[in-house]
Amino acid sequence: MTVELPRVHSGKVRELYDAGRDRLLMVASDRVSAYDVIMAEPIPDKGRVLTAMTCFWCEEMADVVPGSLLAVDPADMSAALDGMPLPPEWAGRAVLVRRAEMLPLECIVRGYLAGQAWEEYEKSGTVHGAPMPEGLQLASKLERPIFTPSTKAAEGHDLNIGFAEAVDLVGAESALQAQAVSLELYRRAAARAADAGFILADTKFELGFVDGVLCLCDEVCTPDSSRYWPADQVVPGTTPPAFDKQPLRDWLAALPWDRTPPPPALPPEVVTAMSERYVAAYERVTGRSLDDWYGASA
Ligand SMILES: Nc1ncnc2c1ncn2[C@@H]1O[C@H](COP(=O)(O)OP(=O)(O)O)[C@@H](O)[C@H]1O
Ligand SMILES: [Mg+2]
Repeated sequence: MTVELPRVHSGKVRELYDAGRDRLLMVASDRVSAYDVIMAEPIPDKGRVLTAMTCFWCEEMADVVPGSLLAVDPADMSAALDGMPLPPEWAGRAVLVRRAEMLPLECIVRGYLAGQAWEEYEKSGTVHGAPMPEGLQLASKLERPIFTPSTKAAEGHDLNIGFAEAVDLVGAESALQAQAVSLELYRRAAARAADAGFILADTKFELGFVDGVLCLCDEVCTPDSSRYWPADQVVPGTTPPAFDKQPLRDWLAALPWDRTPPPPALPPEVVTAMSERYVAAYERVTGRSLDDWYGASA
């Protein structure tokens, strides 16, 4: 089934369509990427998990900052598009949103030291250029959560920047507001995740202005944008088993693959393990069943 909306962007995971009247239709696919390379095999239910989780967090955070979501129920979306039929496979993975003027920043908040931040700290004792206390380990809890923005690279890897560079990009007022909002969103999400037995080690928000008001956009605290660690399995000095692409990374790490396309073909057991992990992340973090979400399992 083809949709008569102009496609405005095709990301690694999402397709964006212009829905008219300053709205976008955002569709999360089942694609998975590692090291910025998209794998050939789709991961069943991944797009529905990303969408369901984003909607859950937008509800949870609605009093911190407004979201840009207009509709996710397929019938509501169709009605908002003057009755336009939508492909049945979009149910549960597509959302209609207000088009925002996006801040050209990835608003990353870190409560623990991991990933690129750990690599930088190990080399230079800094995180995004800012000096950090001595003696931290991989997976150490930081004294307090920190706002560590990066640029949104159209191609290639995003660039980690300091707060001063964020000010240069968006101005002091927006940078301060983005920092305050991101830290509060993280505090909220981390507390809720802790209730479910997870440490939210870090996460990335995308913020944008709708009618002059800063709004929460894009995906929110999904396994693709965040590190969720089972709280009882975190041992400082070691890499915790993140509830995300870990089975894929583990499997790829054992291969002599140089991290450039084409990607290696994923065996069915890796695809299944990934799918189960995404669904488990949603169900354990939110306490909801994916069976109760729109659409059906592939
Ligand atoms: N409400 C919104 N208004 C405008 N742009 C948005 C909105 N929500 C998300 N976006 C943008 O949509 C794009 C999604 O595409 P992209 O990030 O490339 O996809 P993916 O993360 O799937 O690889 C991002 O650039 C994001 O900033
Ligand atoms: Mg994205």
